Amino acid sequence: MKDHDENLFEEIGGVVTISLVVDKFCSMLLKDKRINTYFKNVDVDRLKRMQTSFLCSVSGGPPYNGQSMRSAHKRLLDLKDKHFDAILENLDKAMEQATSKQISYEHRKKLLCLAEFARSDVLGK
Ligand code: HEM
Repeated sequence: MKDHDENLFEEIGGVVTISLVVDKFCSMLLKDKRINTYFKNVDVDRLKRMQTSFLCSVSGGPPYNGQSMRSAHKRLLDLKDKHFDAILENLDKAMEQATSKQISYEHRKKLLCLAEFARSDVLGK
């Protein structure tokens, strides 16, 4: 699998769909006790803009315009695989629930797979 997908962005409905997913995703992250302490004092509007840009970019939309995944997560101490897994679980649920016209299972798996490429950078490995 490549680290981007040329068609996925259009197929799932572009930035409109991805923004809806990110809205849902962020509200889930803030409620999830496994990870929400990491999001204390974070500028959630910026986070949403950046996550939207990142997910647009990996799915084949416009280029990402934020910090590298490695530097964005560098200050977060003790980040482990279980935290990354919790993030992906929330992203999958958000994709399931965010839109009235559901994102297909295949499309969800593709996006999760693309997000998976960020694991080593996010965890600083
Ligand atoms: C698929 C996995 C992940 C993706 C795609 C992702 C994406 C992003 C993006 C795009 C940003 C914004 C960068 C910027 O401001 O320029 C960010 C920041 C942040 N992420 Fe992640 N992230 C992931 C995993 C995680 C995990 C596992 C945690 C912690 C549990 C986390 C916590 C944070 C926090 C707290 C910030 C804000 C950092 C700051 O403003 O100082 N992220 N993430």
